[in-house]
Amino acid sequence: MTSRATNLAIFAIVVVEFASGVLSLLVGQPDGAWLFWIHRIGGLALAVLILWKWRIVLRAYQRHGLTPLTALAALLTIVFVGTLASGILWATVGFPGLRLPGIGGLTGLGVHILLALLLIPFFVIHAAHRWPRLLRPDFASRRAALRYAGLSVAGLALWQGHERITRAAELPGINRRFTGSREEGSFSGNGYPTTNWFTDARQRIDPATWQLRIHGLVDHELELALPDLAAMPATTTRAILDCTGGWFTEQDWRGVPLATVLAQAHPANDARSILVTSATGYRRRFPLSEAGKLLLGTHSSGVALSAGHGAPVRLIAPGYRGFEWVKWVVEIEISAAPAWLQSPLPLQ
Ligand code: HEM
Repeated sequence: MTSRATNLAIFAIVVVEFASGVLSLLVGQPDGAWLFWIHRIGGLALAVLILWKWRIVLRAYQRHGLTPLTALAALLTIVFVGTLASGILWATVGFPGLRLPGIGGLTGLGVHILLALLLIPFFVIHAAHRWPRLLRPDFASRRAALRYAGLSVAGLALWQGHERITRAAELPGINRRFTGSREEGSFSGNGYPTTNWFTDARQRIDPATWQLRIHGLVDHELELALPDLAAMPATTTRAILDCTGGWFTEQDWRGVPLATVLAQAHPANDARSILVTSATGYRRRFPLSEAGKLLLGTHSSGVALSAGHGAPVRLIAPGYRGFEWVKWVVEIEISAAPAWLQSPLPLQ
């Protein structure tokens, strides 16, 4: 493979890796597993491309020696290899997490994502500095098609290969969901990590003073205290909470369906979405049509939720990733805004 073809293939696949990686954070249902397949195949194809890239890197050093740009390229290489290695190790033998001041505990997958984000500035500067004038044959030729097909087959073979070895050797990687998350404390009540979205702070709410306000496009605004919620018919749902930080837990969640509470408020005909807000100001929007499957959860597997898990009331959102399961719920607004009208990943 020529240097040009190698560099362009790395560029194209890294872009695919970022896109599939970021989009994978939004996928909570198995019908979106294909996005993770693309990510794994692309990531392992990049590992194959290193076989060609390292000669290009060596030649660059022999020609230019140590300069600010080659030093930057060296840093890029370290972060790039770190991103690849952390992903592959997490998927097979496991990869240790770490605690970061201001961010808290990261799983090995969290470290992978952090390295990937760290890669962006290095990658952008390097690509901008080395950007070639693209030619049609670079991507739209038989040779290019064969090259990318070959890289995809190599990535697929490596992925299936390490999955077989991981299963046969019963390596820690077998304990992963299609999202890459690892099982933690299923059916344990509160025995799973209390991860928060990085800008959210743990709350300790007194159940005696807790209030839930329901307002917006409704005929009757409501202010509910915990005994009011406890008086409503509750239900139990078995569901998986899958955190984008790399762990998941399955619990029997008990609570009042949102639809039951909204039935008392009578949403207006033009209502389209539900904005669920935490005591921290953290909020997520859901389609009104999903009110039946969303729970105002108070218990997990027979145990009252702990403060770290969002007591007294947390949103139980089966099929959604963990950052959608709003903790410490205090407000519900019924709105005419479409459910998609929010940042795909929380910004507040
Ligand atoms: C924000 C961006 C990213 C996210 C959220 C992300 C997320 C993930 C996830 C969830 C996995 C699956 C782990 C598993 O199967 O257990 C993974 C694996 C992997 N990722 Fe990423 N990733 C991101 C960026 C990248 C980038 C930029 C690269 C390459 C430069 C990359 C390379 C890999 C590789 C090589 C694997 C291992 C695949 C395997 O061995 O099956 N990722 N990543």
